[in-house]
Amino acid sequence: MSDVSAPDLNAPPTEAERIRARKRFDGLCQRGTAFLGTDYAILGGAMSWVSERHLVSAISNAGGFGVIACGAMQPERLAEEIAATRALTDRPFGVNLITMHPQLNELVEVCLQAGVGHIVLAGGIPPGAAIKAAKDGGAKVVAFAPALVLAKRLIKMGVDALVIEGAEAGGHVGPVSLTVLAQEILPHIDQVPVFVAGGLGRGDALLSYLEQGASGGQLGTRFAAAAESIAHEKFKTASCGPMRGMPLRRCSLMSVFRLFPYVGW
Ligand SMILES: Cc1cc2nc3c(=O)[nH]c(=O)nc-3n(C[C@H](O)[C@H](O)[C@H](O)COP(=O)(O)O)c2cc1C
Repeated sequence: MSDVSAPDLNAPPTEAERIRARKRFDGLCQRGTAFLGTDYAILGGAMSWVSERHLVSAISNAGGFGVIACGAMQPERLAEEIAATRALTDRPFGVNLITMHPQLNELVEVCLQAGVGHIVLAGGIPPGAAIKAAKDGGAKVVAFAPALVLAKRLIKMGVDALVIEGAEAGGHVGPVSLTVLAQEILPHIDQVPVFVAGGLGRGDALLSYLEQGASGGQLGTRFAAAAESIAHEKFKTASCGPMRGMPLRRCSLMSVFRLFPYVGW
């Protein structure tokens, strides 16, 4: 019998272990935080009529990257929402535009006029003209890649970052899970940062994708259930309650961020 005793996996980490882990984690997030200009490589995924000024500014103020969901807004309404968000935060935030919106070009122009640094083009392969207009106007463009071949095409079209969103994602209709998409795409794309989305609810889940090569993560449902979200209480309970196996009325963003990256809630 060996006299070497097994390590106690439940023992709290030593200070040296903490410092090493922090350094490694910061290294994994570095590309994402540099791209977003944030403390955390975490986007608050745009949710139509939920990702408005209060939630977006709360996410950005907490060190993440809030994203306004333009949805069906008209250009004047979007301009108003951007201005109202800016009044609540001086941190970076982005705007998500749906590519099928009939006024896409005008909406891009509204973002540029307002000095929005990151435009997320969602809901299909974005038109080349919209990507070019956004980039010529000084914004970074983020788009969604539902397959490797499309990721490569979007990079050729000039996008600055990709989101890969699995079927687990709230509000999403794609058929492929994030587990599969990540294995298909992450090993082959290093030209631009890639953020993962879909079913992320714990820091350790995000960490596993960072270790596969992701630059950060995008969360939606969990933020919709935050205290700072205007979503109905019944939606918050229905969507996030089962995560803990008991009804969860609300969470605060601070408790989410305080616990990132290593522990869930
Ligand atoms: C209620 C709701 C509305 C959404 N609306 C949009 C949208 O307008 N544009 C978009 O790109 N994604 C939208 N999404 C997807 C989120 O931005 C995000 O990628 C997704 O929620 C991540 O998965 P998760 O909910 O499992 O964290 C929506 C998600 C939800 C739950």
